[in-house]
Order: sequence, then structure tokens, then C-alpha cells
Amino acid sequence: MSKFYITTSIPYVNAPPHIGHALEFAQADAIARWRRMRGDDVFFLTGTDEHGAKIARAAEAAGKDTQVFVDEQSQRFRDLVVKLSILPSDMIRTSDKERHWPGAQEMWKRITDRGDMYKGVYKGLYCVGHEAFVTERDLKDGVCEDHGKKPEYIEEENYFFHLSEYAAEVKRQIEEGYLEVVPRSRRNEILAFLSEKVEDISFSRPARDIPWGIPVPGDSSNTMYVWCDALTNYISALGFGGSSDERMRTYWPCDVHLVGKDIARFHALIWPAMLLSAGLPLPKRIFVHGHIHSGGKKMSKSLGNVIDPFSLIETYGAEAVRYILLGHVPAFGDTDLTLDRIHELYTAHLANGVGNLVSRVTAMSVQYFEGSISRPLDALLASVPFKSDIDVLDAGDRNLKVGDVTPKTFIRDVTVPRYIISWERYRSDEALQEVMVLLRMLDRYIQDYEPFKLVKSDKEQVQAILWNLVSSIHHASYLLRPFLPGTADAIAGVLGVPPDETQEDLARRTAYTLTKRGPLFPRVDPVRNKAQTTHTPPSP
Ligand code: MSP
Repeated sequence: MSKFYITTSIPYVNAPPHIGHALEFAQADAIARWRRMRGDDVFFLTGTDEHGAKIARAAEAAGKDTQVFVDEQSQRFRDLVVKLSILPSDMIRTSDKERHWPGAQEMWKRITDRGDMYKGVYKGLYCVGHEAFVTERDLKDGVCEDHGKKPEYIEEENYFFHLSEYAAEVKRQIEEGYLEVVPRSRRNEILAFLSEKVEDISFSRPARDIPWGIPVPGDSSNTMYVWCDALTNYISALGFGGSSDERMRTYWPCDVHLVGKDIARFHALIWPAMLLSAGLPLPKRIFVHGHIHSGGKKMSKSLGNVIDPFSLIETYGAEAVRYILLGHVPAFGDTDLTLDRIHELYTAHLANGVGNLVSRVTAMSVQYFEGSISRPLDALLASVPFKSDIDVLDAGDRNLKVGDVTPKTFIRDVTVPRYIISWERYRSDEALQEVMVLLRMLDRYIQDYEPFKLVKSDKEQVQAILWNLVSSIHHASYLLRPFLPGTADAIAGVLGVPPDETQEDLARRTAYTLTKRGPLFPRVDPVRNKAQTTHTPPSP
């Protein structure tokens, strides 16, 4: 059994979770579930980033005590995790003094002991929205484009981390593939950035200005810079600096840090440099996903185009939201999503697609065979291949000919190999689309044979057709499991099989007993569609 450690970034809790956070949770969850299915010992970490000026100010604006505020806000992220069927192994909070602080402070001490921390005066700009020291180069007309604000000018005595010392080594590790940055375009961006002069970075803020954070060990007049604190969550959660480092020994180095494009540099430069200084191994991979925009624009409160994950889940269900995020947001690109598009996808692919297919096949099985479908002889199965056009088969250069391809051979020769290759190329969205192609093929298969007409003349052949449909739906549900675990369970319920069957179990199966259930994806009336672009979260 090999170990597999995957993390999401930890969202700031200054505002409620948005669809971008849901995307990152869902992507990491699908990868973690896929690895568990393959038999890996998976540790999947997520959590919340709760320190810094941005959060302290949000608490003040809300008129709440900061700790009370972060307790409430981080609960909303936990709620999203549960509602979206995300199954992390652990969730860490950076305000957790027992679990996180010792690790962050140990990291600081190690960097100091290595001689990589020194006192200096920082004179320059700070963008509170980014919680980052910025230069004129990062701004447009003196304004941070992401936050629409001028950064603050600060002049203060801070601790500096000797980042410049490590830039060349980090670059080498990326170039030589020890630290993989995926996709390649992001790797190139990072390498280009590392080819320029990298400056040392201020790693603390005066405690009198920024009291909400972790005190610098041995100098409580300073608070750790929030990124130094937050990045360490990936190891504090494993017990680094705490009483037991068993998890650290088992799971570090991390296999995948999943992060958005705006924070790639923190993960591909500052974090590896901190680890090098502390004498710890580097993570193996950083996956950089794109951002979701809405109606051609970055989502923002002022534009009123923020898509709220909670109301989407309420309207369409968690499975549908996972489907949209995992199947229609390319793993690495930017995507535009609108409520209209989400509604269209739900109706076409889920309600009229998978949902309708499963209920038609169930209805026919129950009506013609009282739900009992058993495997016919191979010769009979071979006599009912796909009749559909090869372009639907999307056979590429595989030389598949209409008349040769049965649902079983299509799954074996097309769906499964492409599904696995997609995962190996880190394209989970393409893996999900392979399953959707199969399901569309099965719809087409019903049209090919029209079993409802055939049943009067050739019941035996209809049994063979239904066997093909039912066993293929079973296989499809197995492949859907990392993406849509609830749907996979529901399909298992309809087919009368245990939800945790392996691929070997399903290949050995010789019979199914189907029962009718309610629709997997009930139609949602767009008039009553309650998904909102603005969100008034329930009180925790
Ligand atoms: N707290 C830091 C991360 C610290 S990790 C040690 C942070 N938080 S965040 O809340 O601003 O962002 C969390 C994640 O959400 C980031 O990976 C970010 O890229 C992602 N997204 C923010 N907006 C997004 C979209 N519109 N679309 C997709 N992902 C988005 O950065």
C-alpha cells in the first residue's frame, strides 16, 4: 500500500466560502477518493487560515470578538465540506493553539537556528487583501487590481527570511522534476519568475499593529507573517513540533498541494525555501487550478455575480454541484460559470442524462423481467453490439468498427484506458467526461434497439440488451464514484448491489435485482430555482 498525502490551500475566513473554495475542495476530494479506490493509504488535509490583518479587520467590521468571529466563520467552511460530501482526513485551523502553533513556532526556530532570519527595516507597500508585500510592478496605476484598493505604505522593523539564499535551489528542484509544478504553463511561469532576482521577504509584523497572529518565538513584540504561519499548516497537522510526529513520518513529503493560480508563488517558492532552510524534504507536486469567473468577469460582491455554493447545493443537490465543478471546470484552466449555464448542464446531463437513463433501464427491467437481469451466454451478448455511428464512439485511431463493439468491449477498450490516462495526466475533468460519454452511448444503445418494441418478438435478446445496459451502468457508477459518490451509492441501491464493490467484483457478477426508486436527479424548475448570487448565510 503506498501512502498518498494531498492538501487544499486553507481559505481565509474573513468572508463566507465561495464557489472557488468549493472547487478546490471538490477537486482534492475526487483525487483523494480515486487514490483510496486504488488502495492507497490516503491522508487528505484541508483547513482554515484564520490570522492576519484582513481577518482581524473583518471581525472588527462585524462588531465581533476576533476569536468568536473566526470560530463562526470557520464553521461555515466545515459546513460546506459536509454539505458537498467532501471527506477530508483532517481539518486544521491556524488559530488552534494546541495543534497548529507549536508547528509554526518550531518552523520559525529551525529557520532561525539555520541563520536564515534577521532583523531589518521594511519600507514599502502591503496589500491587506492579498496579505502580501507588493511592489509597484504588482499594481496598475498604483492600485491592486484584484482588490481594487491602493496598498498601504508601511515602514517597520521586521524579521526577514533569507529567501534569496534558496531561490536557485528551488529553481533547480523544479527544473529537475523533484518538485513538479502542474500544469506545464504554470511551471514555466514560476521558472521565469525564479530567473529574476528574488529578494528576501519580511516574515513578521509588529505585534502592536498586528496582534492577531502567532507571536514570534522569543520576541513577542513581533507577530509571524500570516503566510509563514499558514504554510506551516501542511506539517503542523501531521504533528510537526507537537508531541507525536508519527503522521509526519508516514505522510511527509506531501504528494500534492492543490492551490489556485493566485497563490502558486507562495507554494512554489516561499514554502519550498522554508522547508529547505528547516532541513525538511520538499513536497512532490503542486497542482495549480484556474479560477471560476461569472458572466465574463471576476466574481465580486460589488458586481453581484458571486455564485454561492450553499444555495446551489440547496437547489440542485451536492452531487450536481460536484458534477459541474469536476466535469465542467477544466482541471487547470479558468472557467466561466453562470447560473443559467449551471441550470442547463443540470437538466441536460443529469436530469435528462444519467438520471433518465437509470430510470428507463430500471423501468424496463422491472416491467419485463420483474427486476431480475442475469448474464446471458457470450454468443448472445456478442449479437447485440452498438449500432450507432462510429463518431459517437469517438474511436480515434483505435480502428473500432460499428458492429464489433459491444458495451463491454467499449468500456474495456475505450472508457477504462482513457479514464486512467486522464487521471495520470492529472485531468480529472476528462476522466469524468469519459464516463459521461459512456452513459450517452448507453442512451444511444437504447435508441439503437428500442427494446420496448423488441420485447414482444424476442424477449431473450431484450434480456441480453438489458444485461448490457445494467452491467455497463454498474461499471459507469464505479468509475463515477470519486466524483459523485452519492450517485454511485444510489445506483448501487437501484441495481441491488453493495456500494463498495471492486472492479473485480463487478466483472464476476452474473445477476442483478433491480428495484424502482425515485429519480436520481429530479427536475428543477428554473422559475423556482432558488440559487442566489448573493448569500445570506444562516447564523451558525
Ligand atoms: N489563505 C490563503 C491560502 C493559504 S494556504 C497555506 C488564501 N485563501 S483564499 O481564501 O483567498 O483562497 C483559497 C483558495 O481559493 C486559493 O487556492 C484560491 O486560488 C482559491 N480561489 C479563490 N477564488 C477563486 C475562484 N474564483 N475560482 C477558483 N478558485 C478560487 O489564498
